[in-house]
Amino acid sequence: MKQFIQDLPKVELHLHIEGTLEPELMFELAARNNIEIPFNSFAEVKDAYDFHNLQSFLDIYYQGANVLITEQDFFDLTWAYLLRCKNDNVVHTEVFFDPQTHTDRGISFDTVVNGIDKALTKAAEEFNISSQLIMCFLRHLDEESAFITLEQALAHKDKIIAVGLDSSENGNPASKFERVFEKSLSEGFLTVAHAGEEGPASSIRDALELLKITRIDHGVRCSDDDHFVEELAKLRTPLTVCPLSNIKLKVFEEMSEHNIVELLRKGVCVTINSDDPAYFGGYMTDNFMAVGEAHMMTKVEIAQFTFNAIEASFISELEKKRLF
Ligand code: HPA
Ligand code: ZN
Repeated sequence: MKQFIQDLPKVELHLHIEGTLEPELMFELAARNNIEIPFNSFAEVKDAYDFHNLQSFLDIYYQGANVLITEQDFFDLTWAYLLRCKNDNVVHTEVFFDPQTHTDRGISFDTVVNGIDKALTKAAEEFNISSQLIMCFLRHLDEESAFITLEQALAHKDKIIAVGLDSSENGNPASKFERVFEKSLSEGFLTVAHAGEEGPASSIRDALELLKITRIDHGVRCSDDDHFVEELAKLRTPLTVCPLSNIKLKVFEEMSEHNIVELLRKGVCVTINSDDPAYFGGYMTDNFMAVGEAHMMTKVEIAQFTFNAIEASFISELEKKRLF
């Protein structure tokens, strides 16, 4: 099974590039840019990565991003992730980035997007890994900040396929971003949003109805409402599920209690993704392995996660044929 999972072609649809910052690169960039970090050793970093919920993770995750300053830093960060993709046989990846995390520190939008884009382009040429870029609005910030960010993205429409919504779900309802998503759609961006990670099934419904999203990031709390699960299955609404993330952030106590396999068997278009792999203990193969070890599954079922991800991806029908 291990070899089958390792060799299986994979498509990643839920990956925050800032969440791929491994401690080694964090130390290297801190030294390169003369930035103070609150850790003296890798062991101290690992100790700090002991989260009890989403917010306790986000506090450390935003702090880690402070070492990213230059276009080269964003390139190096993205390139390191793409080497992991190559290793895990990820053939296509749709990458989130959080511009406000950087522009609020005085880093220009162009620096961020150009560094990431150059690495993605190089990986397409050298490794035949295709990709898309998704810009996320931080939901703990206000609507005005999201509108300013959208304005900055307009000059980079050729590089950004969609907008998303991440950060603290509780206390920041989808309704806060209804107008900015409407404007994003009118500018030609596709839309996705984190929902139903910590928030209830109604938070997923709100994201679908108010933000007109075409897929849901996480969405695992849909199981609180059986009727809604049936609806999602019927409509084949994709859920980009992140198993190791859900365990680390205590959405589920144990992988054996995770609902991803149950949802798969009910016909929901669930996919496996790594979210913030440097913080949650693993990249794509690790996530597949963790699910495969905790749940009895056939090879056909495991491969279905990849077929679902191709179906849910933002690649053209022509490109999809290359992947099938
Ligand atoms: N949820 C919300 N915001 C995030 C996450 C997540 O899992 N990862 C990075 N930002
Ligand atoms: Zn996420």
